[in-house]
Amino acid sequence: MRVLYVAAEVAPFAKVGGLGDVAGALPAALSRLGVDVRVALPKYRGVPAGLAPVGEFPVSVGGAERPCTVFAGRLPAAEVPVYFLGHDPYFDRPGVYGEGGTGYPDELERFVFLSKAALALGPAVGWVPDIVHANDWHTALIPASLRSGDANLPAKSVFTIHNLAYQGRFPRERGAALGLNAVGLGAVVRDGEINLLQGAIRTADWITTVSPSYAREILTQGEGLEGELQARRNALTGILNGIDTAVWDPERDPHLWAPYSAVDPSGKRENTRHLRAELGLVETGGPLVGMVSRLAEQKGFDLVIGGFERMMALGIELVVLGEGDPRYAGFLQNAERRYPGRVRAILGFSEAWAHRIEAGADIFLMPSRFEPAGLNQLYSLRYGTVPVVRATGGLRDTVRDCGSDPERGNGFTFEDYTAEAMLGALGRAVRLWRGNPAAWRRLVGRGMAEDHSWDVPAREYHALYERVLAR
Ligand code: ADP
Ligand code: GLC
Repeated sequence: MRVLYVAAEVAPFAKVGGLGDVAGALPAALSRLGVDVRVALPKYRGVPAGLAPVGEFPVSVGGAERPCTVFAGRLPAAEVPVYFLGHDPYFDRPGVYGEGGTGYPDELERFVFLSKAALALGPAVGWVPDIVHANDWHTALIPASLRSGDANLPAKSVFTIHNLAYQGRFPRERGAALGLNAVGLGAVVRDGEINLLQGAIRTADWITTVSPSYAREILTQGEGLEGELQARRNALTGILNGIDTAVWDPERDPHLWAPYSAVDPSGKRENTRHLRAELGLVETGGPLVGMVSRLAEQKGFDLVIGGFERMMALGIELVVLGEGDPRYAGFLQNAERRYPGRVRAILGFSEAWAHRIEAGADIFLMPSRFEPAGLNQLYSLRYGTVPVVRATGGLRDTVRDCGSDPERGNGFTFEDYTAEAMLGALGRAVRLWRGNPAAWRRLVGRGMAEDHSWDVPAREYHALYERVLAR
């Protein structure tokens, strides 16, 4: 079985959020199961230099032929081949999607290029896929092109929705860029505009999303596409994301100050101490709460803003690592000034700080408005950092509240999207941390003992590929 896995982000080469983590890890897990899987992504500026070009072919975008140069590499610590699809006018830029919070204006053309180049790659590299597995709107043209025949490739398609909020919507006039025939175009046009995600939902042989709860939720809260999803509900599966347990391993994490494990958790305290010292946080006798997140509405920053003073009145310290919406960044900067020594905002993207916060914090806060899967709560569990999350999507599927059964829970959850509800859950966490250190240690131990590796989900994808090929 030959599977081409296509995504706009693949860690460690290009990462903005969890899509990159998934695309960098799932193919490796599939390959361990014996699947001949290969990965394709754009050759961004950040991609390692010195790769040899292995082929070149033209890709038509909006009627103009654009050369695609293919460079071959591999996923680190895996045998999985990676094809970097190069076209410098589109991809030799500082950002993946844009710069300074503004998207590149030619994002449609850039990702049409990615989708078409991935579909045309086979002859150039001497390997033709049976299944093309596409992800999110950037590659949503792939199922439509396969279905309409525009791609001229007899492959099946699997399409994964990582986030329904980004649909690839463009004015109808720009539809010429897609190069679709009437069949394909019919699938992508919605209310007089281009909606690439709708196209993939209508035409993919199978649709997956990244948690069972999100798969259910989007049938009624589907950002306008619920009807389309209902129509395909028999070909829609929620498969919970896993995590890369080699990259996220507190025993072997090169970013940490001290290694630790469930057996010997003492190193965690070292990391907390260093984190405080490096960030100039003074120890106030409360727990250290961490957040690592895109600064986007999805992630619940409105609750943090609304409940901020009451949050600080719980006696916590807070460190936030994030990049995105200037509105949230501005609030965090201001909060840091108002609470010197108790609040730190690291504004930017830093792999090292993401790992250090996961290791050094006592509590990880994720009050998401919606969350298709969420990876940070899983990293937190593995790093002995107790997650406090809103029960939505993948957060609902992975975090069990301690309130209902203190000796079975692995974190704290709240239902309503309100600052009060968030403060309730955070308050319960802080009280347990202060009042019952032994119960807290058991709670931490339970989280660290859980297995969220890709082994199980990779088997589910493998079984799905077999079903799709047999249809
Ligand atoms: P999403 O994909 O919606 O952003 P996830 O929880 O699935 O949410 O994944 C987010 C990923 O991006 C995690 O690996 C997290 O560590 C990383 N991340 C988010 N913001 C930053 C940042 N500012 N610096 C470094 N890593 C970040
Ligand atoms: C999206 C979602 C996030 C998910 C990630 C990887 O960015 O917002 O919840 O974990 O994709 O699937």
